[in-house]
This record gives sequence, C-alpha cells and structure tokens, in this order.
Amino acid sequence: MTEPRRFFVRTFGCQMNEYDSERIAGLLEADGLVATDEAGDADVVVLNTCCIRENADNKLYGTLGHLKSEKERRPDLQIMVAGCLAQKDREVVLERAGHVDVVLGTHNVHRAAELLQESRADGRSIVEILEETVIDDHDRFPSALPLRREVPWAAWATIQIGCDNACAFCIVPAVRGREISRPVADIVREVAAAARDGVTEVTLLGQNVNSYGRDLTLAARHAGEPTRVRPLFAELLRDVGAVDGIRRVRFTSPHPKDIRPETIAAMAEAPEVCEHLHLPLQSGSDRILAAMHRGYTAERYLERLAAARAAIDDLAVTTDIIIGFPGETEDDVERTLEVAAEAAYDSAYPFIYSPRAGTEAAAMVDQFVDGDVVADRFERLKVVLERSALAAHERRIGRVEEVLVEGPSRKDPAVLTGRTRQNKLLHFTAAHLRPGSYATVRVTGAAPHHLRGELVDVVAPPAHKTRLPLLVG
Ligand code: SAH
Ligand code: SF4
Ligand code: F3S
Repeated sequence: MTEPRRFFVRTFGCQMNEYDSERIAGLLEADGLVATDEAGDADVVVLNTCCIRENADNKLYGTLGHLKSEKERRPDLQIMVAGCLAQKDREVVLERAGHVDVVLGTHNVHRAAELLQESRADGRSIVEILEETVIDDHDRFPSALPLRREVPWAAWATIQIGCDNACAFCIVPAVRGREISRPVADIVREVAAAARDGVTEVTLLGQNVNSYGRDLTLAARHAGEPTRVRPLFAELLRDVGAVDGIRRVRFTSPHPKDIRPETIAAMAEAPEVCEHLHLPLQSGSDRILAAMHRGYTAERYLERLAAARAAIDDLAVTTDIIIGFPGETEDDVERTLEVAAEAAYDSAYPFIYSPRAGTEAAAMVDQFVDGDVVADRFERLKVVLERSALAAHERRIGRVEEVLVEGPSRKDPAVLTGRTRQNKLLHFTAAHLRPGSYATVRVTGAAPHHLRGELVDVVAPPAHKTRLPLLVG
C-alpha cells in the first residue's frame, strides 16, 4: 500500500484566515491526505496568505523563495497559495514564483482539493480567482465544508464574509468582497456540532460583526416576508451561548460606529459571552478619523466604550491603532495618545500605516509622513499602550480567575499557560492539567502582555443547559 500524501498549512493572516485554513485542511483530509506539522515532510504545502500590510506580502514571497530549492529537489512537491494576497495578486503570484502549482482566491476555498488534483494530473499551474463567494449552491457554501480544527477545544466560526465599509486605508473589501451573512441556523448548527466534538470555546468572526444579518433582513424583505430590523448579532450571541457544551463565546471585530445597546446587553446577560471587547480605534484625531471614513469621532467612541464598561462587569478592552496615516500631524498624534490613555486599554495592536495599492489613502502620496517621524510617533504610542496594559494587569493581582488551559508554556515546560475570560495569557504553576480543561488560578504577578499565578482548583464541566435558542427551531 502506498503511503498517503502529507500536507502542511501555514496561515499568515487574521482569525478569518485561520478559519479558512481549517477548511482547506478539512478538504485535504477528506481527499485522503494526512496533516503534518513539518513543512519539510509535506508533499503539499499550502500558504494561506494575508495582504493587510506590505510586510505580509514580503513574508509570502520570502517563504516562496525558500520553497523553490525544495521543489527543485522534490519535483513532486505541490505548492498552493491561497487567501487574500492570492486574491489581490492573482497571476502575479506565478510571475514572481513560477514554481507555485495552484493559486486559489478567498471566494473558492471549496475548490482546494480539486484544484490540487487537477494541477497534478495535468502537470500545469492553475490560477482560480472568483469575484464573489458562491452562495446559491449549498453544497459549496462554507457551512457544508469539512473542517480540521487546530486545537480540539476551540473553534472559529465565520459569521459574515466580506465588508461593506470603505475605510480609506484598508484592502479587505477589495479582497474579501461585499458583506454576506451566513444564516443563523447554519452557524448555530456548526457550533453545536463543534460542541459535540468537545469544543467549549467559540469565536465568531466578521469584519464588522455588528452589521451581521443586515443583508439577511433585506433579502427577506425582497422576498415579501414581514420583517422588522432585528439586532441579529445580539440574538446570535445569545443563541450560540445557549448551545450545550459551549462555555465561552468570543467575537471580533465590532465596528465602533455600529455597536448597539442590544449587543452590550447580550454581553452583560449571556453568561458564556466573555468580558472582552476588541474595539478598533484607529486614531484619536477626529480629522484623521474623518479622512479614514470611520464614521465616528473620538468622543463618540469614548462614550460607547463607557456605556459598555458601565453595563459589563470587569470588561477588558483592546484595540487597533494606525500611526502615520497620510496627512497625520503632530497634533493628531497628541490627540491619539490622549484618547488611548483615556481609553485605558488592556492591550492594543499599534500598526504603522502601510499603503495598499488601489485604496483611497494609497493615492494621497503627497501627504505621506516621513518614515523617521512615523517611527518616533510609533514608539511614543507604544509607551502609552504598555503603561496602561501594565496598570490594567497589576489591578488583577490577588484575584482568582478562570482559565482555559492551553498546555505547557513555550519558555518553561514546568509552567502551564491558560487564557482568562478577558483573553489574557496567564502563566501558572501546577502539576499537569489536560489542555482544554478549566481551572481557577490566583493572580500573583503582572507584565504588559501576560499575568502570572498559582493554581487554586480544577473546574468541573457545568450541568446541561436548559435555555432555548431565540432564533432557531
Ligand atoms: N474589520 C476590522 C479590521 C480588520 S484589519 C475593523 O474595522 O476594525 C485589522 C487591523 O489592521 C485594522 O484594525 C487596522 O488597524 C490594521 N490595518 C488595516 N489596514 C492597514 C494598513 N493599510 N496599514 C496599517 N494597518 C492597517
Ligand atoms: Fe477594513 Fe474598515 Fe472593513 Fe474593517 S471595517 S475590514 S478596517 S474597510
Ligand atoms: Fe489579512 Fe485578509 Fe485577514 S488581508 S487581515 S487575512 S481578511
């Protein structure tokens, strides 16, 4: 009997890309291949790419450069480039790296296994990029695809594909297409199936989760069904929380302009929804926010944040901020530093603005900010963010937190790592605990990016739920 072919998937992008990678891995497994953790052992290497910033592009072409000599030694090796950069660069991927076998866009993940087979049979490279996600064919819509999870206790669930916003800096609408919501029943069914497989934590994914369902309501109206505008995302949060076996529900990202009181109420009331809000600020300057087309002012942002904090006990807040957007002045940066300090984030991802061809901001060349100036502003922002992260973490010393155990820490195998409900990494000392189990840990130390602690107890699984879903049934 011949050995099955082995595949290796590397994900470069965001959580939505990780979810697509799990889909691609599921399809390859269903096709008889087996997963390997070593790229060097693989007969098929899948690179699931990102193009949000320029360094993401560079990383892909760097990796393809390394794979070229590997392919010269092993001509049977197949290389597939999938994801957002494939969608953006299309044939350019083959022009820059002719040894790639398959280039697959973001709208046709379901074709991964077929295209690898076709390319192998014909001995030629294939580029297949669609402009829109296939949604009218239920066998092909993401819900129906197999999936291979990275860890057995946590699942991603994309609830909404694409984005209808037009932030001036952002390439996502160009590579992920228009906003399409997956039906509630499909999502709840997927989460229930994951829970039956042992998943206890689910993260709902969308570029603007608060507008989830807008298209479903419009479609129902077109079909003549009586509908009212319902806060579908809030209802979805409660429904996913009601699934038996699900202990934690997370989501990313809400858009500050669209976050509704119903979402905040669902976070406050549904016990499974974790006390963590990732609310991307992007800038604290109203002038820059307007140029970015973000649809809110700093004051409005801070008001919404205050409302969320008032309603949700012990809420952790994280954010994304861009430094060096075209035309950014010293005053704009001062304002961003002020707003960031006032927001008192638990953690934050600061980014240096990276021009993406085809976006509105990339054309504002005459207003680009000098690299040295940007580097200095970036360092100043990092100081403010680290200070507030450390302060937020120090306030937790002495508390007992529930963690979901992930396994031994990378640096010290005698130390275990877990995640709190606020999504903080907590390193703690304990004898072995099964990854995927829950424990309570007393926090004894704090750093800007993690907490330290000692085991208090192991937490038993909760009893069966009796709540009924609101929307499904
Ligand atoms: N849909 C999410 C953002 C997804 S992209 C939202 O609207 O909040 C993730 C983050 O990458 C963004 O929040 C932004 O801070 C950053 N980003 C996007 N485009 C960028 C660019 N051209 N340069 C630098 N950072 C960028
Ligand atoms: Fe990009 Fe804006 Fe859409 Fe987020 S909301 S994906 S930043 S266009
Ligand atoms: Fe990157 Fe695409 Fe996500 S561009 S950030 S992988 S949606």
